[in-house]
Amino acid sequence: MLRRLPSKNKPDDRKKRTIIGADLPETEIFRGDLLIQSLSGFPRSIGCMYYYDDTGSALFERLCKEDSYYLFRAEQEILAQYAKSVANITGPASIVELGSGNAQKTTLLINAYVENHGPTSYAAIDVNRSILEKAAENLLSMTPDLNFTGIIGVYQTGLEQAATITGPKLLVCLGASMGNMYDDELHDLLRSVRSLFAPGDYFLVGIDLDKNSDVLEAAYNNQSAILTNLCVLQHLNWRFDGNFNVFQFRHVAFHNKSLCRMEAHLEAMQAQSVKLKKLDFSFCLEEGEMIRTEIMRKVNVHTFNEIVMKHGLNPVHHWTDYERRYAICLYKIVDG
Ligand SMILES: C[S@@+](CC[C@H](N)C(=O)[O-])C[C@H]1O[C@@H](n2cnc3c(N)ncnc32)[C@H](O)[C@@H]1O
Repeated sequence: MLRRLPSKNKPDDRKKRTIIGADLPETEIFRGDLLIQSLSGFPRSIGCMYYYDDTGSALFERLCKEDSYYLFRAEQEILAQYAKSVANITGPASIVELGSGNAQKTTLLINAYVENHGPTSYAAIDVNRSILEKAAENLLSMTPDLNFTGIIGVYQTGLEQAATITGPKLLVCLGASMGNMYDDELHDLLRSVRSLFAPGDYFLVGIDLDKNSDVLEAAYNNQSAILTNLCVLQHLNWRFDGNFNVFQFRHVAFHNKSLCRMEAHLEAMQAQSVKLKKLDFSFCLEEGEMIRTEIMRKVNVHTFNEIVMKHGLNPVHHWTDYERRYAICLYKIVDG
């Protein structure tokens, strides 16, 4: 059962700030059984949510400032230019965000809703508790006409919580996060959106468009990207009392053109035996063996629309940045 906790923050913020799921055990968010399954598969993999402990979230913020990581700036440019258009199309709505992080770019959207429609509610879903606290602080200091709800948890449980919010809703997923999902995860999420949200609700999704391998590989091979990737192992060591020797791994990120995605891996530079004590799980890695840590889909709008439309969401409009590197697509949930 999820409990609502009052904020410890400034007294006038309290009425506007709710955190849901603060008593949810982290073992229900970062599930050991799922990790064992993915580390036992071929190829071995680690879910990308393991990027986002406090160190990883800080490194992601640093990555967003890297010159070669164009995604953040391109999405910000689109929101700065078109957030009001989104607000005009949808009319008043509560905003719900999947994987909000620090919600820096979302501020542009929230401000457009406040300006166009008056006081607005915003619910941010994220696995990282402290990033939600940070998002609340930033947003409430900048936008007083906002009701903030932080929902700690994975997308699916977060969506179930958010679906109980009454009235029209705009669901948002920025940072190309839907591109990190494997096919089954993407379809499961879209199925949930369709079944939990109402006809007439909207879904706004940021997608990274397919492009030249050099540009893509530069975005995921800078210093922050390398550190972020390696930190996944430190996260696992800390959370599950593991013994990954981080210094014996190498970051590998490449454009897999045939699957239209970038892939990030960690390659073992020597054979090693790994144990995650809290999970009572061990396995052996051979020299040169890779663990896949993330996929990042690179699509065009038409292909992405086809995937989304299979789940009863109709494309309404999309916007791109000036250089057409990135798109933000708006969908509407249809009847029936
Ligand atoms: C790529 S970052 C994007 C952050 C922000 N939306 C942006 O555009 O800058 C992904 C965010 O989603 C969160 N996240 C990753 N996997 C998640 C999951 N399965 N459920 C909920 N949140 C998740 C991470 O903690 C992180 O803050």
